[in-house]
Amino acid sequence: MPSFFSHIVCLECGHAMPADFAATTCAACGSQWLDARYDYAAVARLWPAALAGRERNLWRYGELLPLAEPDPEISMGEGFTSLTRLYSYERLYQHEHIYIKDERQGPTSSFKDRQAALAVTAMRRAGITECVLASTGNAGAAYAAYCARAGIKLWLFLTSLVPSEKMREAALYGAEVIKVSGTYDETKHVAAGFARRKGIHLDRGAKAIPGKESMKTLAYEIAEQLAYRLADSRWRSPDWYIQAVSGGIGPMGVWKGFLELQQMGLIDRMPKLGLIQAAGCAPMVNAFRAGAAEAAPVIPRTLITVLATGDPGFSYRYLREAVLSNGGTMAAIEDGRTFEAMRRLASKAGYSVEPATAVAFAGLEKLLQDGTIKPGEVVVVNCSGHTFTAESHILGDQYVHDLNLAAGHAPDEGLDAAIRILDEQVTSILVVDDNASDRRLIRRLLQRYKRYRIYEAASGAEALAVIRDHKPDFIITDLTMPEMDGFTLLEQLKHNPDTAAIPVVVVSAKTLTDVDTRLLQAYSESVWTKGGFDTRQLVEHVVQALGHDAAINGQRQPAARSLSLTVETTEVAHQQQIVIIEDNPHDLRLARRLLESEGSYRIITATSGRDGLKAIYEHHPDLIVLDLMLPEMDGFEVLRAVRDDAGLRDIPIVVLSAKELSAAERAALTPFTASVIEKAAFDRRQFLYTVNTILR
Ligand SMILES: Cc1ncc(COP(=O)(O)O)c(C=O)c1O
Ligand SMILES: [Zn+2]
Repeated sequence: MPSFFSHIVCLECGHAMPADFAATTCAACGSQWLDARYDYAAVARLWPAALAGRERNLWRYGELLPLAEPDPEISMGEGFTSLTRLYSYERLYQHEHIYIKDERQGPTSSFKDRQAALAVTAMRRAGITECVLASTGNAGAAYAAYCARAGIKLWLFLTSLVPSEKMREAALYGAEVIKVSGTYDETKHVAAGFARRKGIHLDRGAKAIPGKESMKTLAYEIAEQLAYRLADSRWRSPDWYIQAVSGGIGPMGVWKGFLELQQMGLIDRMPKLGLIQAAGCAPMVNAFRAGAAEAAPVIPRTLITVLATGDPGFSYRYLREAVLSNGGTMAAIEDGRTFEAMRRLASKAGYSVEPATAVAFAGLEKLLQDGTIKPGEVVVVNCSGHTFTAESHILGDQYVHDLNLAAGHAPDEGLDAAIRILDEQVTSILVVDDNASDRRLIRRLLQRYKRYRIYEAASGAEALAVIRDHKPDFIITDLTMPEMDGFTLLEQLKHNPDTAAIPVVVVSAKTLTDVDTRLLQAYSESVWTKGGFDTRQLVEHVVQALGHDAAINGQRQPAARSLSLTVETTEVAHQQQIVIIEDNPHDLRLARRLLESEGSYRIITATSGRDGLKAIYEHHPDLIVLDLMLPEMDGFEVLRAVRDDAGLRDIPIVVLSAKELSAAERAALTPFTASVIEKAAFDRRQFLYTVNTILR
């Protein structure tokens, strides 16, 4: 099949030049933003009929690619990933027609495989034998694999924040990996300097014609796949195309692909773009909101390092116009929301994705919730990359119910005991109260006697989200809370058939009117007045309502010795958790040993601010011990991130400071910390006393 690549147009000045997939610079204005153009009228006569019977990979669209044929020594059958509807996830948001474009199915599990396939094929055709690339990870892995097949030596510049698993994967493909301690923008700069000095070909990312053109195939595939899925089998665009954005090559290419289909009359309208960035690195969103024509560069402050392009330059101008042309939008997402979305997508839809992809889903949730996406609109989300082992923090190291029956001699009684305990350990209870210490008190009461898994929520709205995600077996709720009170929560629960059967107990300080009482009688198991009851009775009541062994006095019966039973996840919930963030190994060991010696705390440690914050997002600890001077992200930044997150700001923080603090610094810390301890004046007993008092 021939390519119908006819000429090149400069995106900045409109100058036209002859077709050349390796062209780099506009002859008129010097711009590097060149765009390939094709003989669309000719292609419109061929498509879609000519596509029938072609292999299902991106090369089926060869007429509209700068290189029409794959190199069989290089291609790995990239492209034509599944478009799959997310039924159960749709029900969470009461929105029909949400589709995932599953780019995890690429040879190295991200959508960058398309770009690498075209770019490396072009390089080989141009006789290039060595290449320099700067990447935040996924393009690096993709190029490394394709370069391995093409016999091209790859010099891969990655920021030091790229997870070591991804670095190792690229190195395994034979790439020369250079880790740069700096931002991604700086890394690109270093890579360009290296390429220039050594005279090696530099991959130009979104500016290179083959790379950007490769991304158009996403649009072609979506239009073709939606034709099978919806109505009259005509190609069509979705109403929304949603993607997480860093440098912008994906959405730029996709937008262009839809424009071409529209120009050829294969689709009748353009999708709206929903472009999502991590709030800690959102130069495009910031500029878009401000109505600015240029994006001011930012220094990335996000855990989603894959999306760390701080200076998007021309891409922003292009995408802004695309978004403004038909009512699309840009949105920014806090990291905490992203990790929640990541778990929700996995547990509700069966898609395990990497954080950079979860950003797009958190964005989708936001646009659905704020009404930007209207009922009935068809949404396609680019599921741009798979979870890697690098994301182990998402579950921590304890996530398995490990029921280990010693072979051969399990007496029935032991088995019963084991199953009883397992039953208890997989039982979950949601405690809803806006007062964090009341919540903790109820949690501790229950966990003193039973190994229940406890979830907490600070408002009715938060509670509904937890209920939706975790379906707890039991709910204990306060009545007076901000945003949505306990009554509204109860009404919503009891009117939803999915949740109506969950037993609810009310624990409140509110004086009840007759109306209140009648309502509560209808909706709850029992009502307890804060401060006015024996706490053990409450626990006994909950335990009985759950149909468990009522004996809560004293120690639990241990399982028979021939049975060993560990239910790790609830084991975690059973103990109070403390995250210690400290980079000095000596201080870390000391703090850890001291707290472990108390016997009742589970300690999670991190040696950088960034890892510490990840641990906090993942474990929602009961307390944080925080050093101030930390690598990557210092203690003040961690404090700021925790304070800015409504779900985390109640967690007490004990600051350990190696430097002497000025009065002003102390004053700045005071509102956000439970205690500030200077290391020079560190006293072990005092430290333990402080922690124990806070967690009492
Ligand atoms: C998984 C994933 N999603 C989204 C993006 C953002 O893509 P773009 O470079 O098109 O802005 C990247 C970029 O590296 C990525 O790796
Ligand atoms: Zn020009």
